[in-house]
Amino acid sequence: MKKLFLLLIGVMTLVACQQETHTLYLDQMDLSKMETGWGKNQINKSVEGNPLTIAGHVFDRGIGTHAVSKMMIDLHGNGKFFSASVGVDDESNEHASVEFFVLGDEKILWQSGLMKKGDDPKLAEVNLKGIKKMALYVSDGGDNINYDHADWADAVIEYFGDTPPVSVQPVKPKAYILTPPPPESPHINYPRVYGAGTGKPFLFRIPASGKRPMKFSAEGLPAGLKLDANTGVISGNVFRTGTYKVTVTAENAKGKDRQEIKFFIGFKLALTPPMGWNSWNCWGISVDHDKVLAAADAFVNSGLADHGWMYINIDDGWEAEKRTDKGELLPNQKFPDMKSLAGKVHTHGLKLGIYSSPGPKTCGGYLGSWKHELQDARTWASWGIDYLKYDWCSYGNIAKDQSLPELQKPYKIMRKCLDNVNRDIIYSLCQYGMGDVWKWGAGVGGNLWRTTYDINDSWASMAGIGFSQDKCSPYAGPGHWNDPDMLVVGQVGWGPTLHQTRLTPDEQYTHISLWSLLAAPLLIGCDLSQLDDFTLNLLTNDEVLAVDQDPLGKQAVKVKDADGIQVWKKQLQDGSITVGLFYTGTSAPEEALQWNDKIKTRKITVNWDDLHISGKQNVRDLWRQKDLGVFEDTFEAEVNYHGVVLVKISGEK
Ligand code: GAL
Repeated sequence: MKKLFLLLIGVMTLVACQQETHTLYLDQMDLSKMETGWGKNQINKSVEGNPLTIAGHVFDRGIGTHAVSKMMIDLHGNGKFFSASVGVDDESNEHASVEFFVLGDEKILWQSGLMKKGDDPKLAEVNLKGIKKMALYVSDGGDNINYDHADWADAVIEYFGDTPPVSVQPVKPKAYILTPPPPESPHINYPRVYGAGTGKPFLFRIPASGKRPMKFSAEGLPAGLKLDANTGVISGNVFRTGTYKVTVTAENAKGKDRQEIKFFIGFKLALTPPMGWNSWNCWGISVDHDKVLAAADAFVNSGLADHGWMYINIDDGWEAEKRTDKGELLPNQKFPDMKSLAGKVHTHGLKLGIYSSPGPKTCGGYLGSWKHELQDARTWASWGIDYLKYDWCSYGNIAKDQSLPELQKPYKIMRKCLDNVNRDIIYSLCQYGMGDVWKWGAGVGGNLWRTTYDINDSWASMAGIGFSQDKCSPYAGPGHWNDPDMLVVGQVGWGPTLHQTRLTPDEQYTHISLWSLLAAPLLIGCDLSQLDDFTLNLLTNDEVLAVDQDPLGKQAVKVKDADGIQVWKKQLQDGSITVGLFYTGTSAPEEALQWNDKIKTRKITVNWDDLHISGKQNVRDLWRQKDLGVFEDTFEAEVNYHGVVLVKISGEK
């Protein structure tokens, strides 16, 4: 028997040895399953589309990618050898730092060590015999992904037999819902403070969840406002500056809720961070009238509007090619009638936003407001626009230099113009953080300002932006917010085709928790007609949204950052704090690569000393909406990889 077995093994080995060896270049494989932290993976080119070049060596073949980059390959156990020349592409700059890894069945087979721009290519030569699944991984080198352009040049797999290796989808953890559905009885949600201009058209939809039909009533409404009892939409004009405490009641067959909402007339707009939708992260320049209207309808039909989601913002791609003879800006044929669109959005008690640039052209190449600022502000006001995103773009060619006066100039000009029209228009500055805009955005009259370059739906991008906002914390407050860019949950794609966000469910919980802790503007960037239960649940947890919308307007600060964990704390108006315990992970491949569906976890402990609190404290889990008990001195939670436990901590009553 033993002899027979040995003979069989011998024959099999002989067959294997006789099997022909084939080669497959990485650039011949399906790259759609390869992840990149920025841009698009490129065949035989760098990530920016230039010839693959490492320290002056030019390569004809290979893949240009960007950290954090991952590719899983099924070798079917037939692998023989892998080789590649790797390094940072010359198109990058001195901020680049990456590390290349080749892994097989969860073990590191080869690693490059830290590589920077200008380092000579390193040759990876890896024996693949006996390996079932291999992975190619480029880490951010332990810092961040900025300028991490990485090349797998001349990358080739040798394999035995006729079944070529195939790239496979990385294992994606399943979506799981944490938050119980909102009750059918009425609940008046957030914001509960709202600012509007004296004498300007006023519009506010009471955000109340619960079964419809619902009846609304209000006591203490300022003169000039009326409430629609069926929809909860309050509209009119208030001509007397002041603070008005309005007691609002929402009632349905299941019960009643009564809450105070404060209207501040004649002071500031955006007393809490704006919440809404923006067309860019889903539709890009393929946005049109129907898509915008569909988003507004979806806000109402999905119930999002009942949780405080208010703005429907059109991003780039709405502008006509030419102005009229009088110099007026027109919408293009995709938007036949802006005024009627605004009217329809307003009927729901929602608001309409628009986009322009201080330069002659927007980033999408459409007409900007250069030299037509006042005229454009008037045009928008006449259409009924409530929000302007003003994007630097081609103004870079107009500005003399990058000095503060030059950076501020176009934003000051548009501020004056907006002050000249009889409409409240939220003013959103977009210039990617140049000149530390967070230090002067409020000074030039911005209600919010982008602190970063564009976000995308990768962990590297979202976490890279979100977890580096500490520097901006002192500058946020009612009326003026740091904007770490729009949300990347749900179906995104920058148009016209969409895909499910590449963030895992845990990464999405982190995204919404972190943005709420940061008191960030919340602008959903997905197709609302394809909202799945998970995404809707994520966007309608009122206890989490209350953190973002807290009237004190404090942005969270980082209290701990060590070995792949972070803890952030946000002070709330009622004296309590919200704390996010994040397992961000290190860039070690054993943490970063998901080989199976087992979720990695870490215990995270936070001490009261770190949080500057003491004594007995109630701890409530905000995603589960569940009290966890009374804790003294310390709190510990088990947190999923790239996930969060978000708790509210308040002194024992
Ligand atoms: C970018 C901006 C994006 C989007 C785009 C439109 O500069 O950061 O959010 O507005 O322009 O072209």
